[in-house]
Amino acid sequence: MVDAAGGDGNLRVDGGRLWRSLMDMARIGATDKGGVRRLALTDLDREGRDLFVRWCEEAGCAVSVDRMGNVFARRPGRDPDAPPAMTGSHLDSQPTGGKFDGAYGVLAGLEVVRTLNDLGVETEAPVEIAVWTNEEGSRFAPPMIASGVFAGVFDIEYGLSRQDPEGRTLGEELVRIGYAGDRECGDRKLAAYFEAHIEQGPILEDEGKTIGVVSGGQAQCWYEIVMTGQEAHAGPTPMPVRRDALLGAARAVEAVNRIGLSHRPGGRATVGMLDAKPNSRNVIPGSVFFTVDLRHPDDSVLSAMDEELQAACETTADDIGLELEFERIWRSPAVVFDAACLDAVRSGADACGYTSMDIVSGAGHDACHVARVAPTGMIFVPCEGGISHNEMESATPEDLEAGCNVLLHAMLGFAGSGGRTSR
Ligand code: GLV
Ligand code: MN
Ligand code: MN
Repeated sequence: MVDAAGGDGNLRVDGGRLWRSLMDMARIGATDKGGVRRLALTDLDREGRDLFVRWCEEAGCAVSVDRMGNVFARRPGRDPDAPPAMTGSHLDSQPTGGKFDGAYGVLAGLEVVRTLNDLGVETEAPVEIAVWTNEEGSRFAPPMIASGVFAGVFDIEYGLSRQDPEGRTLGEELVRIGYAGDRECGDRKLAAYFEAHIEQGPILEDEGKTIGVVSGGQAQCWYEIVMTGQEAHAGPTPMPVRRDALLGAARAVEAVNRIGLSHRPGGRATVGMLDAKPNSRNVIPGSVFFTVDLRHPDDSVLSAMDEELQAACETTADDIGLELEFERIWRSPAVVFDAACLDAVRSGADACGYTSMDIVSGAGHDACHVARVAPTGMIFVPCEGGISHNEMESATPEDLEAGCNVLLHAMLGFAGSGGRTSR
């Protein structure tokens, strides 16, 4: 039986095997609170990659690595020259991340391949699983850097020269962990790209739906800001003459929150990092570095938020007598995913009997970059309480299996399920 997506409506993945793979991967960098700390291009990231590569080779895939360290596992199709149907996500995590953010999309791809193998399904086009380097952006900013190079958003020199807080470059760290490949980034056309991911927000759970048909992603902008005043003694220095950089940063944090609130319901505004110097209890802070993350589904509203942020920082710095360095390090426009890919996800959910709804991604994903060079779609499944970027992040085996079944159907729709082999 061929369903609307071109797939076989009866095919199902092995949800138990998917869950076991997720739990095995989660052991690499496991934290005491049940989460994962597997920062990009650390030894733990290498271990996670190595495990993925071994599993893919055991599943008969050919593995290649590009110059940004993106890993691709290819299951051949009947036509070796046909553009592959690709799926994937990332294996790096936040410093206090969960078991599912990223790893789910990668291992759902592996489960699709294993299922095709078990059932002897040949596809017309190859099927590929991608592991994108440094999606989170928490070690090397900006996020999604390597899918961005793949899609031509950033050039390779920019990508390889990003530095972590200790000054080590992304390129050096790729060499160190053995994942500096020689394949040129983005050297081939894709039939389609699908990414399965936990929602990382509360909507699916609140609405009682199993599958999110992701229509696109919101616009985002990242900033690095330094306010500099004067270090001085906490005791003798009178209040009116102080140039307290942390006071400036505190006012900026308040302004960031106000900007997010004043652009409800779509606005999001966060200060996630703050570093006060010299960080001594009896010294007035002389300089503060902090980051801002602004997001909105509408590009023009994000531009308004950007102007408000800059104005608030300038006013604050003037009032307190601080120097201001204000840098927008990354801006990414709102993304609309491909209509045919959305249809494939929707009809995959229907064919499997799952409830679904359209949803806009609040988080950034590699799919947002890949969408520039290939028809792209995403599949969301609920996560408990909408909590993510948290060690407590949780999702049910049943929902993860459902998302993977929908991924299988969507992938078959684009890879062309040529039929079954005789084995
Ligand atoms: C990626 O995790 C993001 O910041 O949305
Ligand atoms: Mn993610
Ligand atoms: Mn994340």
